[in-house]
Formats: sequence, structure tokens, C-alpha cells
Amino acid sequence: MKEIKIETILHVFDSFEALPKEALTLMNHAIEARKRAYAPYSNFLVGAAILLDNNEIITGNNQENASYPSGLCAERTAIYYAGSQFPNVAIVSMAISASSTKNKTAKPIPPCGACRQAIAEYEIKQNSPIEIYFMGETGAIAKSKSLSDLLPFAFDKKVL
Ligand code: THU
Repeated sequence: MKEIKIETILHVFDSFEALPKEALTLMNHAIEARKRAYAPYSNFLVGAAILLDNNEIITGNNQENASYPSGLCAERTAIYYAGSQFPNVAIVSMAISASSTKNKTAKPIPPCGACRQAIAEYEIKQNSPIEIYFMGETGAIAKSKSLSDLLPFAFDKKVL
């Protein structure tokens, strides 16, 4: 028996203003997208913004449905649109902001497991890291330099 230890690194920016300029712009797009989320059932609004290597910014937000599982998270709404419109353009980074009408979200809210898996697919496909910045409505912003830092030991196509 051997033990395998997996470590991961996150960077945390104490405030919005501490973000690098490009990330701040991207996060502002995520926040605007969040405000357009359709989340009447959970009242939990999420916005995601993607910076592509051609400088295009793609945004998405969560889209809920009366048949709950039919809804989709913000990150996947955005990344599937990016993949469908720009299949050959690499994704540089993604910014995510989440808020709730029930309580104030003031700490970084990470993407769910299904979204991490979806983002991992594109990171592996393009063979270059996708930076992820995530926050609540206010407060600190966490950054991972690669999706693989958020989903170590991911399932990927090499095993198929
Ligand atoms: N949600 C996202 O949009 N992204 C995530 O990473 C986690 C959850 C959405 C799904 C649902 O509309 C609401 O937030 C509550 O789970």
C-alpha cells in the first residue's frame, strides 16, 4: 500500500480592488451576468465570465427550471456557449460571482463539482491552464491558476 498525497494551491485577494486589471474587468462582467440570472427557485444567483484567447468575453448565468434538474449552472451555460461559438479558441480565464437573496455571500463561492468537470474537459482539450477567479457578492476573491487545482484527480478522456 502506498499513500498518495494531493496538494492544491489557491491565492486569495482580500478585496475586489486588489485584483489584477484584466481579472477585475472579467469579474465585473461576471457580476453583471449574475444580475441577469434566472433563479426563481433557489434565489441563488450566479454569473460567470470567460476570457478567450482572442480577447472575446463570454458570459453566462444560472438558468433554473420548474423541473429542477433541467436547469443549468452559470459556468456551464457560459463555457458551452464558448465551446459552441469558438471551438478553436483557447479559454484563458473564468470569473465567477454568486449571491443569494436570502443571505449575503461574503466569501469565495467555488464552482460545483459538475461545473469543475465541465471546465476540466476544455482545459484538457486545449492543453493549457484555465485560471479561475471566484467570489461571493462581496469580500475576498479566490484564484486557482488552473482548473486542475480545483479538481485534482479528475476523470478525463485518457481513461476511455
Ligand atoms: N449554481 C451555479 O450556477 N453554479 C455553481 O457552481 C453552483 C450552483 C446554481 C445552480 C442553481 O441554479 C443555484 O445555483 C443553486 O444551486
